[in-house]
Amino acid sequence: MFASKLLICSALLMLSGAVLSQSSISLKDAKFKTPDASSEHPAPLTSTTTTSTSTTSTTTEKPTTSSSTSTIAPPTSPTTSTEPPKTTTTPAPVPSTTPAPQPFPSPAVGTWNASCIMLQMAAQLNFTYETKDGNLTHGLYNIPSNATVEDKDCDKQTVQTIHLIWGPDTSKQSFLMFFDNKNDSTVLSSIQIHLTLLPEEFPNAKENQTLQLIHRSDGEFKTPEKMSYHCTRAQKLNLTETIDAKQLIGWITVSNVQVEAFRSANATGFSTVHDCDSSETSDVVPIAVGIALAALILVVLISYLCARRRSTSRGYMSF
Ligand SMILES: *[C@@H]1O[C@H](CO)[C@@H](O)[C@H](O)[C@H]1NC(C)=O
Ligand SMILES: *[C@@H]1O[C@H](CO)[C@@H](O)[C@H](O)[C@H]1NC(C)=O
Ligand SMILES: *[C@@H]1O[C@H](CO)[C@@H](O)[C@H](O)[C@H]1NC(C)=O
Ligand SMILES: *[C@@H]1O[C@H](CO)[C@@H](O)[C@H](O)[C@H]1NC(C)=O
Ligand SMILES: *[C@@H]1O[C@H](CO)[C@@H](O)[C@H](O)[C@H]1NC(C)=O
Ligand SMILES: *[C@@H]1O[C@H](CO)[C@@H](O)[C@H](O)[C@H]1NC(C)=O
Ligand SMILES: *[C@@H]1O[C@H](CO)[C@@H](O)[C@H](O)[C@H]1NC(C)=O
Ligand SMILES: *[C@@H]1O[C@H](CO)[C@@H](O)[C@H](O)[C@H]1NC(C)=O
Repeated sequence: MFASKLLICSALLMLSGAVLSQSSISLKDAKFKTPDASSEHPAPLTSTTTTSTSTTSTTTEKPTTSSSTSTIAPPTSPTTSTEPPKTTTTPAPVPSTTPAPQPFPSPAVGTWNASCIMLQMAAQLNFTYETKDGNLTHGLYNIPSNATVEDKDCDKQTVQTIHLIWGPDTSKQSFLMFFDNKNDSTVLSSIQIHLTLLPEEFPNAKENQTLQLIHRSDGEFKTPEKMSYHCTRAQKLNLTETIDAKQLIGWITVSNVQVEAFRSANATGFSTVHDCDSSETSDVVPIAVGIALAALILVVLISYLCARRRSTSRGYMSF
């Protein structure tokens, strides 16, 4: 009887020991994950090396292009890629009404330096515009990575601006980003885009259509002073026609963002990174520590109970 109790106790101890070691492994994993991107969940399971992470990062970008295909080409079949190209008679895609059926390219990452503001991002617009026959439709547009810094406002201590332009001289397209500095942190205050729908890019658009697209920030890109905001994943920011409008007219999707405003004049490159997902990962570590502590307490408790039982049973035996 005493031997069986000892057996049960030692079994319990081994079990709790297993729990403890497992939770400490997960703690190690959590600590290992923190500096990396959030797209690494399959890595600990398969135990493959860094090649798997690169493939996952490329697959994360693909859904945006595939979703753009489905929206751009509502009429024709998406199966054309599987068939050999010579069998079907192509119905001359160049002229008439329907847009080209190939997927819309994902935006390229651009880097811009306006001394007080350094900006790196890839941005795609999805907006509503009026067609020649008076209907509303959706258009996609990538901010070109070779846009140039036209202007900047670096003088003020509380508000700074970067102004990018691109396109033909007759109709310059523009992109402005405003940053606020308050309470020792930097935050995006608004994005303002002026887009002229050129007939070569939007052949079905009503003539001379110029759109004003404004995002009024709700504290996006917030980062402590003297740090740069970094976010690899795509973020969808809503766009309205004026700063106070209630009706949405589109979205700007930004990815691979790194931005820093209110830089000192002699700074080189970006300052220390403040990642948008760092707050999520920092939660994992306390949780893992908590689990490990709970397991430790369990082990101590069980061994204490076992020791007590053994001593009491010894007490009975000695009688
Ligand atoms: C563009 O926006 C419209 C309306 O919000 C949506 O239906 C469509 O799927 C979007 N397209 C892409 C490629 O995000
Ligand atoms: C455009 O609107 C007209 C009526 O105003 C309608 O007949 C036509 O189907 C619409 N076209 C599209 C592409 O929605
Ligand atoms: C930017 O790139 C486009 C093609 O991607 C090209 O047509 C245009 O001339 C370039 N603009 C500048 C300013 O280099
Ligand atoms: C700055 O932060 C303090 C507390 O952290 C808050 O009470 C105050 O309203 C903030 N000021 C601004 C301008 O956000
Ligand atoms: C568009 O603008 C051009 C020149 O700016 C002008 O000649 C033309 O009449 C305009 N078209 C419409 C429909 O307003
Ligand atoms: C746009 O998004 C912001 C948050 O980024 C939100 O506060 C605001 O209500 C949204 N605007 C509209 C018109 O939905
Ligand atoms: C940058 O300039 C400031 C004064 O504008 C100076 O205090 C600081 O030491 C300089 N930093 C470097 C790294 O040169
Ligand atoms: C940004 O431009 C400023 C001059 O306007 C230059 O001194 C600085 O080295 C540039 N920084 C980078 C990272 O290119």
